Amino acid sequence: MSGARPTGRLHLGHLIGVLENWVRLSERAETFFEVADLHAFTTGFADPQAIRDARDEMVIDWLAAGIDPERSVVFLQSAVPQISELHTLLSMIVPVSWLQRVPTYKDQLEELGPEIATYGFLGYPLLQLCDIAAFAGDTVPVGRDQLSHLEFGREVVRRFNHLYGPTLIEPQPLLSAFPAVPGTDGRKMSKSLHNTIDIADDEATTTKKVRSYITDPLKVRRNDPGRPEICPVFALHHYSNAARVPEIREACAAGALGCVDCKSELAETLNAYLRPVRARRAAFDRSRVNAILEAGSERARRVAEGTMRAVRGAMRLGDA
Ligand code: TRP
Repeated sequence: MSGARPTGRLHLGHLIGVLENWVRLSERAETFFEVADLHAFTTGFADPQAIRDARDEMVIDWLAAGIDPERSVVFLQSAVPQISELHTLLSMIVPVSWLQRVPTYKDQLEELGPEIATYGFLGYPLLQLCDIAAFAGDTVPVGRDQLSHLEFGREVVRRFNHLYGPTLIEPQPLLSAFPAVPGTDGRKMSKSLHNTIDIADDEATTTKKVRSYITDPLKVRRNDPGRPEICPVFALHHYSNAARVPEIREACAAGALGCVDCKSELAETLNAYLRPVRARRAAFDRSRVNAILEAGSERARRVAEGTMRAVRGAMRLGDA
């Protein structure tokens, strides 16, 4: 089980770090992929239309990356009320101090300002646990930045099972084998840093962005020796041009390969790598998104209702 907030277009970092992991898992396990629109409200509550627009774009990106909605359950968080019900019930047993201690809470508060310090935002990791627990998710493919949320979630599960009997499963993270993808400024590729290469970009834009990468500052002239191990362009060759990596390393370090040529080669291979994904994206009939989410959410509700029956029973609620 995994999910993402509909906040903007997906980029190369999502594709390499997250989506390829999802696709691989979906080929051998039962998988649930969630459009976390309620989570998007925790910070984006003032602009609901932006969340609505990003929803469709994100689903199209997922399908273009190879997620098959027949095989995986692709669903909308807000269309599965059992998740919100679970959130209410679990909120009764979660100490506020546990939530305040999650490092992303303080970090995001510092970054986005006190106006996002809502009740819902504090509860973000609890809602995330509910997403997972509603489907008895045992394995959660995510980025490193989500590890503290899962650790918090496991603590909540242990507390619930201790109080009411073994009911929920402790979710384990599954990290991608690849390190973070560097963006055009050399920092981790991230929408908020405006340093992304987007799946929806065209090839000319991609080439322009590749040219803008800062390479080794000590390699000024074409035949100065470079330090590939500190160069983000060299790092990117590993994804789209893996077979050539040893030669590029040697040629760069020997001063035999200039950054302009190295970037041209990278832009070509990145565009080739992204071409099939972009072609599927362009060919996709957008009017299908709603039907896909509706069908997925229906399947999700059936599974989540099974979990809720067990949770209500354990808590002596309903007709238990
Ligand atoms: N918090 C996740 C992120 O920012 C998104 C998310 C929401 C999620 N619900 C989830 C991830 C459930 C895994 C499982 O990327």
